[in-house]
Amino acid sequence: MIALRRLLATASLASCITLLSFPVMSQDFRLGLITPPSHHWTQAAQSFAESLNAASDGRHQVSVFPAAQLGNEAQMVQQLQTGALDMAFLTVAEISNRVPEFGAWYAPYLVDNIDEAAALLKSDAAEEMFDLLPQQAGLIGVGYGMAGMRQMMARSALNSPDDLSGMRVRITPFDPIRDFYTALNTAPTPLPLPAVYDALANRQIDAIDMDFDSILIFRFYERAEHMMISNHMMFPMVGVVSARVWRNLSEQDQELISSLMREELDQVIETFRLQEAEQEAMLRERDIVITEADRDAFADSVSQWEAIWSEKSTRLATLREAVEQIRHSQE
Ligand code: BEZ
Repeated sequence: MIALRRLLATASLASCITLLSFPVMSQDFRLGLITPPSHHWTQAAQSFAESLNAASDGRHQVSVFPAAQLGNEAQMVQQLQTGALDMAFLTVAEISNRVPEFGAWYAPYLVDNIDEAAALLKSDAAEEMFDLLPQQAGLIGVGYGMAGMRQMMARSALNSPDDLSGMRVRITPFDPIRDFYTALNTAPTPLPLPAVYDALANRQIDAIDMDFDSILIFRFYERAEHMMISNHMMFPMVGVVSARVWRNLSEQDQELISSLMREELDQVIETFRLQEAEQEAMLRERDIVITEADRDAFADSVSQWEAIWSEKSTRLATLREAVEQIRHSQE
């Protein structure tokens, strides 16, 4: 009997040691995002779920919840902070509501085009901004993705930025973009992406701030026949993990999740970079009126924006330096 007890004690000690030295915890993760199933962000999330499952030999599963099924981004961030949600792909918009330094990403004409946007998101300056997230938002920033450059669409003529004056313009709900449209004498109207089509249809809004890809996916051109190609802002996304969840992962799992998620996010950047010109061409073929405007046309509102945000975000200067380096390296 004593021999049996000794044997059991030795066996359970041995299994404890095995568990301590080789963490084999399996986990079911939940990843939330606001884009619909057909959007590139959601497809990247699904692809990440599959590759994590395969690379962990089936130990880890990721259930993806698209189209704001778990709530809007503000609600998802709250869930991430408590650990009720494990991961998310979030617009930098929502991040900047919590960490104002991230507002720098929305400096009007920070970059000139989608290629510069892609390069900036892969720069050291971009990576260093993740240092702010654990403390200020309870999040671990794993990597950046993006959507296309921002454009403007309206139900009535958009021949110059002056035509926007007095319009109710749909914006993604966050401060830096609100400040830009306030400077343009519009009435910025924050609305989440899924609510935009109906708001245009029932004339709750006159114009929208949007990217080519979403204009095509959601068919906004059916309700707003005037487009001003302005390329006025980039639109970064961040792949995040709850800091609470992260703390309880083994180093190997942290490494696995980071590398697989980053791979997918890099692919998102590349997809948007490559499709931008083709999507512009597709929209030019539609029955809509298209005009163009550049940085000079928006000069007043850009300087009003700068006056507000150069105080709120010291990283604005750092991102600008990084853009200069990118331009230099391309000469
Ligand atoms: C938007 O709010 O305009 C948006 C959000 C996610 C992806 C693309 C656009």
